[in-house]
Amino acid sequence: VARILDGRAAASALTARLGERVKALAATGLVPGLALLRVGEDPASASYVRSKERASRDLGIASSTLVLPSDIRKDTLLDEIHRLNADRSVHGILLQLPLPPHLPEDELLAEIDPAKDVDGFHPMNAGRLCLGLPGFVPATPLGIVRLLQHYEIPTAGRRVVILGRSRIVGRPLASLLSLKGPEGDATVTLCHSRTRGLPEIARTAEILVAALGRMQWVTAEMVAPGAVVIDVGIHSEPDPDRPGKRRVTGDVDFAAVEPIASAISPVPGGVGLMTVACLIENTVRAAEAAARAAGN
Ligand SMILES: NC(=O)c1ccc[n+]([C@@H]2O[C@H](COP(=O)([O-])OP(=O)(O)OC[C@H]3O[C@@H](n4cnc5c(N)ncnc54)[C@H](OP(=O)(O)O)[C@@H]3O)[C@@H](O)[C@H]2O)c1
Repeated sequence: VARILDGRAAASALTARLGERVKALAATGLVPGLALLRVGEDPASASYVRSKERASRDLGIASSTLVLPSDIRKDTLLDEIHRLNADRSVHGILLQLPLPPHLPEDELLAEIDPAKDVDGFHPMNAGRLCLGLPGFVPATPLGIVRLLQHYEIPTAGRRVVILGRSRIVGRPLASLLSLKGPEGDATVTLCHSRTRGLPEIARTAEILVAALGRMQWVTAEMVAPGAVVIDVGIHSEPDPDRPGKRRVTGDVDFAAVEPIASAISPVPGGVGLMTVACLIENTVRAAEAAARAAGN
């Protein structure tokens, strides 16, 4: 039976350590500030932003959400970003994606001050990650690394297969795990919709990461006995056991894979919680850098 990689336990251990760092900053008179920008009323985005705001507030971070209308003009949103860039009480800025189709995501993300880009989506931070230079790493890949660290699962020299090459999960995770050093040193294969023979490749993984956005897509046939399986997917479907209710599932067929894997992250209760904790980690780091720059 696989060990369950409990995101709640790992996230609470991480946030306890971050809480100490927030207290140390507070002792110097600095309260970390996080500004969350949400455009429109997408229910999933609203729920993600709420949980990010709540978790950061619980830790003593001054976080606030600005909800903007879905028909907002690009220039008005740019003005908001520039205002937050200039606000010294704000150390982290997060622009919740996806944006309505009329707004150019890349252009807007590139306007966030890289020193406040706690989502790590600015080209400067993405480039620094590729080069192995310090910067902000997107919260989901960082959360996966932190989850593996919490359970003392080494990556050095191991074969990692990542299913999905998105900019927010698969691609930055491939960069991170292949970096030289204790957080990486893995041999990484990045798969996508044009990959040939994906099930055979997946079966070579000692650590298999599913980030495709396909509900319960990873079956037992794709998993080598003893592999560590990380499920990044988030899906909502009608709950067969509770009529009229919905339940959350992942990209992995948990019931089929759990008996084969040596360890597996559940959905819910896995990577999602680590993502929120790592957003907070990035915000605390941004505030610490601001404190150092101010000579505190
Ligand atoms: N837990 C969290 O905190 C968290 C954070 C972010 C995302 N998520 C979840 O993670 C999942 C992935 O999100 P994302 O934003 O990374 O997704 P995305 O942008 O839609 O990217 C999906 C990736 O999977 C690949 N793919 C899709 N179907 C495939 C198939 N049948 N065979 C092989 N490759 C396939 C795509 O290939 P192509 O590039 O060739 O199209 C693409 O690279 C979603 O369920 C999302 O809700 C969770």
